[in-house]
Amino acid sequence: MFWLLRYASITTGTAAALYVGLLALLTTSTFQAHVVYLHAIQMTWGKDLDVPEIFGFLHNQVTPFNIKSPNSETLYAWHILPIGLYHKHEKNLLTEPSGFVMDITDRLAFKLLQDDPESLLVIHFHGAGGTVGSGYRCPNYRALSAGQPNKIHVLTFDYRGFGRSTGSPSERGIISDALAVVEWAMNIPQIPPERIIMYSQSLGTAVNMAVAEHYALQDPPVVFAGHILTAPMVDVPTLVSTYSVAGTIPILGPIARFPIVFQYLQSFIKDKWSTKDRIASYVRACEANGKRYRLTLLHAEDDYDIPWTHTPVVFWHAVNATLERGMTFNELDDEKAKIRTDLGAAGSVVEWKTSNGIIREDILKHGLHDVIMGNPIVSLAVLRMVGPDI
Ligand SMILES: *[C@@H]1O[C@H](CO)[C@@H](O)[C@H](O)[C@H]1NC(C)=O
Repeated sequence: MFWLLRYASITTGTAAALYVGLLALLTTSTFQAHVVYLHAIQMTWGKDLDVPEIFGFLHNQVTPFNIKSPNSETLYAWHILPIGLYHKHEKNLLTEPSGFVMDITDRLAFKLLQDDPESLLVIHFHGAGGTVGSGYRCPNYRALSAGQPNKIHVLTFDYRGFGRSTGSPSERGIISDALAVVEWAMNIPQIPPERIIMYSQSLGTAVNMAVAEHYALQDPPVVFAGHILTAPMVDVPTLVSTYSVAGTIPILGPIARFPIVFQYLQSFIKDKWSTKDRIASYVRACEANGKRYRLTLLHAEDDYDIPWTHTPVVFWHAVNATLERGMTFNELDDEKAKIRTDLGAAGSVVEWKTSNGIIREDILKHGLHDVIMGNPIVSLAVLRMVGPDI
């Protein structure tokens, strides 16, 4: 009996010590970077990214190439041709050599993007972990261009420290990578901002809003055709407090009950990725400058990586920024109840319109954290941003 008690107290003690150790480790920036960005996890299991056919693409549908980031990092990127254009130019595409190219500008696929004055480009910001070829990202690229298969090209890349890109990730570094990719799109194939849509998922949504804010605050302001955020988060400190392993074990649950300790630990978070502030600043700038803007937030209720409840908070910060005197979360909630469209098993939609912008929130019943990316809801979100407003 006595030994049992002793044994129990040792294991509890050991578990507590391990837990405190884990928390201590989380305050170090290198470990934090690995937890936030998961860049060491490639998830492509030794598959060669230079052979996109492995990931289900047609021969020479994808052109792998590099984009230079200003502080001398090299970013690995894919240009993906939509299926209609591929079909039209299949014969000539097949005569070109395949795989990685040093100079993308002499490729037919690139010229099809550059030379068509109506071509559209989706710049893609992926989430934490993996590479351009991981998981649901490939079905995602196909969904993005499905609505206009003769027009919509996709440009996707790995942030520094991910996949074949050099360096190691940080908030500031990743944002400068994203800006370098956008600059590439505007300067090399010379796609104007009105023909650029930015799509993102998970951590990528934070990158997306950082880019949106950066350009909207420029003088003169630059505003793109639209920004799509799938499974966004309010910011990293909020995510940390709501994060559960596999949706069941809240890592910081035990200390979340002690606000002072919790706030102290949160103060160690280096890269905060404050989407709530950036989206508000972007919306405020667009409204002040009378710029047309389009924002769509998509989140599935069965997402257990980032709880869907982050999205109404992000939406609130965006909507609040359209109002001179602002609005509380609860006031907006009452307002939403009046204008919400119920789509049954598909979920519900709220659209907030001003004379300049449309801020749309789609809460889906199904789609998890990533399956949603390959679904028609994504194709439609892109179409809404480039087509005439219906
Ligand atoms: C909402 O907008 C108002 C007016 O611009 C501002 O004072 C307030 O801080 C905003 N609220 C939040 C939570 O950002």
